Amino acid sequence: MDRVIIFDTTLRDGEQAAGGTLNIQEKLQIARRLEKLGVDVIEAGFPITSPGDYEAVRLIAKEVRTPVICGLAHASPEAVDRAWEAVKVAARPRIHVFLSASDIHLMYQLKRSREEILEMARSMVARAKKYADDVEFSPMDASRTEPEYIHQVLRAVIDAGATTVNIPDTVGYAIPEEFGRRIAGIFRSVPNISRAVVSVHCHNDLGLAVANSLEAIKQGARQVECTINGIGERAGNASQEEIVMALRTRRDFFNLTTGIDTTQIYKTSRLVSELTGFVVQPNKAIIGANAFRHESGIHQDGVIKMPITYEIMDPKAVGIPASSLVLGKLSGRHAFKARLAEMGYSLSEEDLNRAFQAFKELADKKKEVTDKDIESLIAEEQRTVSEVYHIDRLQVTCGDRGIPTAAVRLVAPDGQVVADAALGTGPVDAVYKAINRLVGVPNKLTEFSVNSVTEGIDAIGEVLIRIETDGTTYTGRGADTDIIVASAKAYMNALNRLLTAKKTG
Ligand code: KIV
Ligand code: ZN
Repeated sequence: MDRVIIFDTTLRDGEQAAGGTLNIQEKLQIARRLEKLGVDVIEAGFPITSPGDYEAVRLIAKEVRTPVICGLAHASPEAVDRAWEAVKVAARPRIHVFLSASDIHLMYQLKRSREEILEMARSMVARAKKYADDVEFSPMDASRTEPEYIHQVLRAVIDAGATTVNIPDTVGYAIPEEFGRRIAGIFRSVPNISRAVVSVHCHNDLGLAVANSLEAIKQGARQVECTINGIGERAGNASQEEIVMALRTRRDFFNLTTGIDTTQIYKTSRLVSELTGFVVQPNKAIIGANAFRHESGIHQDGVIKMPITYEIMDPKAVGIPASSLVLGKLSGRHAFKARLAEMGYSLSEEDLNRAFQAFKELADKKKEVTDKDIESLIAEEQRTVSEVYHIDRLQVTCGDRGIPTAAVRLVAPDGQVVADAALGTGPVDAVYKAINRLVGVPNKLTEFSVNSVTEGIDAIGEVLIRIETDGTTYTGRGADTDIIVASAKAYMNALNRLLTAKKTG
């Protein structure tokens, strides 16, 4: 097989990243984008873990019809049954059963013998197989498990009906050459291996997740589990965009393809970053802000003469928008709509009207409106649509002599207009205190950061915040040319997520 199956686990392992919780609608939005990106399998969640996760998997299974939709289950009858209940409406459902295999996990966590684990794995795969044709099995912590035992487990689960066997480097311990030998050993020593696809799932604790995945692919693995922007438990998972672009850019070496439409990579990365609140580091390969920026004079000279002197990939192949000046305050609705279409947005008439109104307001404050501004503006509009409380008015007084004071007027969920004012140590503190008086949900602010979307003094500021309540973290984002307004929007966004989560359980 000369095609690598891209198994995206952004919505499961990615969402497990501390502070990256998504609500059901956000998960559906990401799943739709992953479908456009062309992933083969979406691991949509772990249905037994919460009613919200179950609902999200079910909704995605119903709505997203092209990829395989996979639900994760630990090796218990209830978890397998729940995973099936969630995915069974999918056009192509998959159940993914996992169970620890290493002696470390068996001894200290599960307190079971190898024989017991083997039997649990076999019987849970057989149970899943009664429901679904497509069953995956993962021996967790495989990279720290004796190879002979893994071979035994794989043979048993394939006989029980597993169609994909996944080798997880759960704790990111593997080294490429060693991991590759492990994969090659599986092909040599598991007699029924030709009846299953061999998959890998690598964590990034030593920064080797992508290298380990590529080495496994070289040794014959034909499914790779990965996430957008590499998010995931602890240091994250193998980054999908890096694997896909490595396979594409070095086709001469791998001679393999994927079904990914690479021009969708940048937009998918932005959406995941936007909804999870995990900012992409500037030097991140493929999608970081500096990934295609040349600073040294010699490099700039080379790129101007011929891009391949210092660029191994065309930024357009990844869908990175040109940062050229596009529109200004005299641009009409037609030009705005055309630019949105060129950037790949298709908005309903109502959303277009709202976005155009926001564009006009921005163009009044900012002379040059770039693609990045438009992206930020659309993201802001999409946040506004799912509001519970809405900021109607905001007024702040501050300065080196004054006492920072904020007056806030909100539109409550029942349409009632409520207003209050507060003093603070600074303008943001005052605004947050005034909002707290109106909304009345105790929480702790754990993170606050401001970034500018483009260069220039009139740039839009994007604020990212995280708040914590009852051990759960909620992320909020807001954008505006006024960073106090952006801060207020971000706080309101986080509170709205918190309130929605509390309502839906
Ligand atoms: O890292 C891991 O082992 C996992 C499994 C559930 C595949 O995420
Ligand atoms: Zn994992």
